Amino acid sequence: TVYSRIAGTGSHLPEKVLTNQDIARMVETSDEWITERTGIKKRHIVAEGETTCDLAEAAARRALEMAGRSAKDIDLIVVATTTPDRIFPGTACLLQARLGAQGCPAFDVQAVCTGFIYALGVADKFIRSGSTRCALVIGAEAMSRIIDWTDRGTCVLFGDGAGAVILEASEEPGVLSTHLHADGRYEKLLHVPYGVSDGLDKVEAGQAKVRMRGNEVFRIAVNTLGRIVDETLLANGMQKSDVDWLVPHQANIRIIQATARKLGLSMDRVVVTVDQHGNTSAASVPLALDVAVRDGRIQRGETVLMEAFGGGFTWGSAILRF
Ligand code: ACO
Repeated sequence: TVYSRIAGTGSHLPEKVLTNQDIARMVETSDEWITERTGIKKRHIVAEGETTCDLAEAAARRALEMAGRSAKDIDLIVVATTTPDRIFPGTACLLQARLGAQGCPAFDVQAVCTGFIYALGVADKFIRSGSTRCALVIGAEAMSRIIDWTDRGTCVLFGDGAGAVILEASEEPGVLSTHLHADGRYEKLLHVPYGVSDGLDKVEAGQAKVRMRGNEVFRIAVNTLGRIVDETLLANGMQKSDVDWLVPHQANIRIIQATARKLGLSMDRVVVTVDQHGNTSAASVPLALDVAVRDGRIQRGETVLMEAFGGGFTWGSAILRF
């Protein structure tokens, strides 16, 4: 059997930082409110002219370096993003040209905050089927571009960044399983209500911004993430105690704590970056993974559970031996 296995990780954050105090000068809010309700202290934001592909490229180069691979080794590129540089071509194609990895398939996946888990699931299946040996899988976002900076209910939550993994064919696991779900009936709780073929005039008028009913999203996210944890363990015949690390989507510290409680994991086995990065949507899981790999917390051979929930609704998980 062929498995897919993470050979390297990388991440990148834009230089510009917005603290809670900075945001409190823009809308009616406070550091205390944001910290208590979300756990967020600051977030990184792209500068003018800086793009999702810029962030993705920097993260990709770091992941390649850790894996000891070069661009010519890559035979699949999947970029998860909700904030692509262009309507087309896909950000994966723009990135491919920059890296010099021409010829291999390159495409974007759009599943909002669950995007990286979806991209990892897709790449894992390409590798297991034998058609790919070395995949570059990325989550990259410039969420700040689609935020309404006058809406205090959303503008405090999001940040920009990118995370990448090199996923390689291996006789040893690797990715044990991925679990992907969606329920499109919940679209209106969390969306950008306009786009290219529906409301282009609104897009042009600058109204294509994130709209969210945060309280309802919160409740459904907590319940759904509890269920996906059970599903993932059951599919692998595992106990809660088999999980060494939880690398959750970084939306809100209270959602993360609820999932950790469900797993019976103490918070020192949970990778938390939401305080430093905010919610970077598709970038949040691979960014958190890279942070914990590089600071030496996550070691080879350990069992890592990743999960995410986001717009769509979409949700999913991946469990792997690192
Ligand atoms: N500063 C001060 N007050 C605020 C702010 C703010 N930034 N935002 C909202 N409020 C006010 C509201 O207006 C409301 O006031 P009211 O009672 O006078 O009407 C009050 O705070 C309570 O609002 P709620 O929405 O009930 O507050 P809640 O405790 O639910 O926290 C939050 C809001 C942080 C958005 C929370 O619901 C949340 O994190 N939801 C999850 C949504 C999320 O993370 N989505 C991202 C994508 S999906 C995902 O990744 C999970």
